[in-house]
Amino acid sequence: MSSALSCLLLPLLMLLWSGQCVMSRPLLAFLIDGFRADYMDGLDALPGFRELLRRGVTVDYMTADFPTLSYPNYYSLMTGRRCESHHMTGNYMWDEHSKKEFLIGINPDSRLPMWWDGAEPLWVTAQKASMKVHMYYWPGCEVEIRGVRPAFCEEYVYNPSLQNLTDSIHKALNVLSSGQAHMAAVYWEKIDVEGHHFGPDSPEVRRAVLELDKAMQVLSRGITEKNLEEKLNVLLFSDHGMTKIQWMDKVIELDKHINMSDISKMMDRGPVVSLWPLASKHQQVSHAEHQYPERFFYRGGKFVSPLTLVAEPGWFIAENKRLLPFWKNDSSGPARGWQHGWHGYDNEFLDMRAFFLAAGPDFKQNVRAGPIQTVDLYNLMCRTLGVEPLPNNGSWSRVECLLSGARESTLCYGMVLFSVLLELLLTPGH
Ligand SMILES: *[C@@H]1O[C@H](CO)[C@@H](O)[C@H](O)[C@H]1NC(C)=O
Ligand SMILES: *[C@@H]1O[C@H](CO)[C@@H](O)[C@H](O)[C@H]1NC(C)=O
Ligand SMILES: *[C@@H]1O[C@H](CO)[C@@H](O)[C@H](O)[C@H]1NC(C)=O
Ligand SMILES: *[C@@H]1O[C@H](CO)[C@@H](O)[C@H](O)[C@H]1NC(C)=O
Ligand SMILES: [Zn+2]
Repeated sequence: MSSALSCLLLPLLMLLWSGQCVMSRPLLAFLIDGFRADYMDGLDALPGFRELLRRGVTVDYMTADFPTLSYPNYYSLMTGRRCESHHMTGNYMWDEHSKKEFLIGINPDSRLPMWWDGAEPLWVTAQKASMKVHMYYWPGCEVEIRGVRPAFCEEYVYNPSLQNLTDSIHKALNVLSSGQAHMAAVYWEKIDVEGHHFGPDSPEVRRAVLELDKAMQVLSRGITEKNLEEKLNVLLFSDHGMTKIQWMDKVIELDKHINMSDISKMMDRGPVVSLWPLASKHQQVSHAEHQYPERFFYRGGKFVSPLTLVAEPGWFIAENKRLLPFWKNDSSGPARGWQHGWHGYDNEFLDMRAFFLAAGPDFKQNVRAGPIQTVDLYNLMCRTLGVEPLPNNGSWSRVECLLSGARESTLCYGMVLFSVLLELLLTPGH
């Protein structure tokens, strides 16, 4: 062999070796809306989760991004960025310039690229890298982001059924095991729906958790049947937690405190409310303004309103109680609020804590680690999938310990040995 070849090969190999040895395994991710960190306590009753954990890791809790609402955290999870850096800062947003609204759920204007283009989610980056991503009910998978859509998107519908979930699990395992997809992502809403309706400590939420556990048993059986234990990494995570609210006692009615005709636009109600005061009234309206903490990483978002109200835990902000759509009018007696749980509060509030679990060949087994943050997951997913992460706000050191590292080091040592051998063979004089 010529030394010219050696000059070419060696630097290439050294480059490969010195860079992180890239793992690349298929990934199945589950986004479980509103699954609070402690819902998985009492594993005895949850054989599905228990089985996953036997082959995987969990953490004490995962700190959601502020505001602890769905869309902001869906995007922090998939971009690794703080809300103010990906600009998806609410479930309800308003663009002052175009006068367009982003509204949670199914709504044409919410699909405009402007809400989504603030950062690039993992599925787009993976697609750009010629990996195929299949998504099931995942909010936003139908949107073209930076010119890209996932290879497959089962569009979001309100509160998919258990049958929808198990169907998605089977479909995902099929395309991942056949190599048709490299990543699959499944969204599940029921836990959040029951949490809002009945409160986090209700039997209804418990039932929903047990139902999800059944689906996890289906998942584990599918993984075994398809011989995927040593091939597939599975991630389960939520966007935020849930806390009990008492509407009868703890509603802040804005129209009792400010003249609502001084407000040109109000978005959302609940723990976080965005207000755009009339330009002429800004001073008057914001006299009670408090600085919110730096650690929210929120203010820099391009759709953030001049005035954002954040309620103390358990409190609910509305223009007026009567304008809330969540009242049940019994034939006799006064109207009763029928929502008993909410989220969106300060992300350090214990009840807002999200959960995380990962199982598969790239993760340690039967390990419970310390807390991580929502923005940390992105790097972890990129690493196991073999995608180069984009600049983000996640901490590698918080999640590195979750990886088994076994395959990585074998690969690295193998590579070193190979390059040493090659060097011996190729160096002129040998
Ligand atoms: C989801 O489930 C509902 C009810 O179980 C069913 O009607 C619907 O067809 C399912 N959607 C898909 C895409 O399978
Ligand atoms: C609220 O503002 C409007 C318009 O600025 C004004 O006409 C009205 O008197 C105000 N109401 C109160 C109670 O101050
Ligand atoms: C129930 O009563 C409230 C007033 O107490 C009213 O605003 C609301 O529209 C009623 N809701 C229904 C479903 O009738
Ligand atoms: C988050 O990451 C983005 C992209 O690298 C960066 O521009 C931003 O300054 C980071 N934010 C924080 C709070 O570090
Ligand atoms: Zn919710």
